Amino acid sequence: MDFTLLLAFSSLIPIIIASVSGDEAIDYFTVCSQPFDCGNKTNLSYPFWATDHRRRECGHPDFELIGCGNGNQHPVLVVTESLHLRLIAVNQSSKTLTVALPDYRYTACPRINATLSSTLLAPSPLEAAALQNLTLFFGCPSRAGIPDTRLSCSVAGDLVSFYANETVVRDRDLGGLLESCTGRVVFPIPADVDGGIWGRDGEAQLQRVLDSGVNLSYSYGGYQVLCEQCGEFGGLCGTAAGGSTFLCHCLAGSQPLSCPVSIAAGAP
Ligand SMILES: *[C@@H]1O[C@H](CO)[C@@H](O)[C@H](O)[C@H]1NC(C)=O
Ligand SMILES: *[C@@H]1O[C@H](CO)[C@@H](O)[C@H](O)[C@H]1NC(C)=O
Ligand SMILES: *[C@@H]1O[C@H](CO)[C@@H](O)[C@H](O)[C@H]1NC(C)=O
Ligand SMILES: *[C@@H]1O[C@H](CO)[C@@H](O)[C@H](O)[C@H]1NC(C)=O
Ligand SMILES: *[C@@H]1O[C@H](CO)[C@@H](O)[C@H](O)[C@H]1NC(C)=O
Ligand SMILES: *[C@@H]1O[C@H](CO)[C@@H](O)[C@H](O)[C@H]1NC(C)=O
Ligand SMILES: *[C@@H]1O[C@H](CO)[C@@H](O)[C@H](O)[C@H]1NC(C)=O
Repeated sequence: MDFTLLLAFSSLIPIIIASVSGDEAIDYFTVCSQPFDCGNKTNLSYPFWATDHRRRECGHPDFELIGCGNGNQHPVLVVTESLHLRLIAVNQSSKTLTVALPDYRYTACPRINATLSSTLLAPSPLEAAALQNLTLFFGCPSRAGIPDTRLSCSVAGDLVSFYANETVVRDRDLGGLLESCTGRVVFPIPADVDGGIWGRDGEAQLQRVLDSGVNLSYSYGGYQVLCEQCGEFGGLCGTAAGGSTFLCHCLAGSQPLSCPVSIAAGAP
């Protein structure tokens, strides 16, 4: 065999391997350095990401957005597989966002069991003091003690859906009813809501309260310190492809912890 041909082939091998492994081929530093828009929310960056709009590797696994299409006024934050919240506003400098429950009135009652109990997403202590927990009960067997604060989502047969504050849940022992309901959502609302929402036919009023949403603070949990460190060394916080491990995207490539200090020194 021609020696020069062999030499040409062997020098190609590392290039082929590098492109097959895929990951190294993507320059995440460049990809993630551009902020993105999701619906009418502009200039977003880590921790947010959205399939088709922003690579997951540029975000934090727990901050997926959906419905980022052109100008959509209410993109959705995926809190858990079953709890999707309408994203009303985001402020990345204060790390706060305003989210609202979906409007369930004209849909089938959701068959979900969801509570806003994430450690990454919670009201600040100051905001929490001004909130109360509302419980939405979906598809429960009718029985004495169920309040007449009914929800109009559609559900099969004689099942009833309603909402209640914590006092009512406790005093009428509605907690025990949960096992027999098809769904339940616990969500914060202002503590000082107009008493009218607790009356019969209060649902329209409740919906106005729910539509204004609630202010929450967000954090990166266990990745908080890593992300700060990454930023200090000029990197961009991100996530490993196909996983949920933290990754710091640097000019010189992605690193598990932080960027090498002396990129400019041209170390081997
Ligand atoms: C976009 O966000 C970055 C940081 O999140 C901020 O520094 C910059 O000023 C923002 N730009 C605009 C146009 O809002
Ligand atoms: C986006 O649309 C919502 C709903 O109309 C509105 O409340 C909000 O002010 C708009 N703009 C931004 C930047 O969120
Ligand atoms: C976002 O938060 C920063 C810091 O708390 C504040 O100065 C700024 O006014 C807020 N921006 C908006 C649009 O509310
Ligand atoms: C509401 O429920 C959440 C989750 O169970 C809890 O952490 C929070 O303290 C409750 N808030 C109030 C005002 O009771
Ligand atoms: C709903 O979830 C809570 C914890 O989040 C659990 O205690 C409760 O048993 C669940 N209820 C049903 C009906 O699955
Ligand atoms: C809870 O709801 C009941 C009726 O459903 C109402 O009478 C009561 O005032 C409410 N409690 C609070 C603290 O809002
Ligand atoms: C959320 O915070 C903004 C300012 O940061 C305030 O204007 C708004 O009233 C708050 N919304 C709620 C529902 O508390």
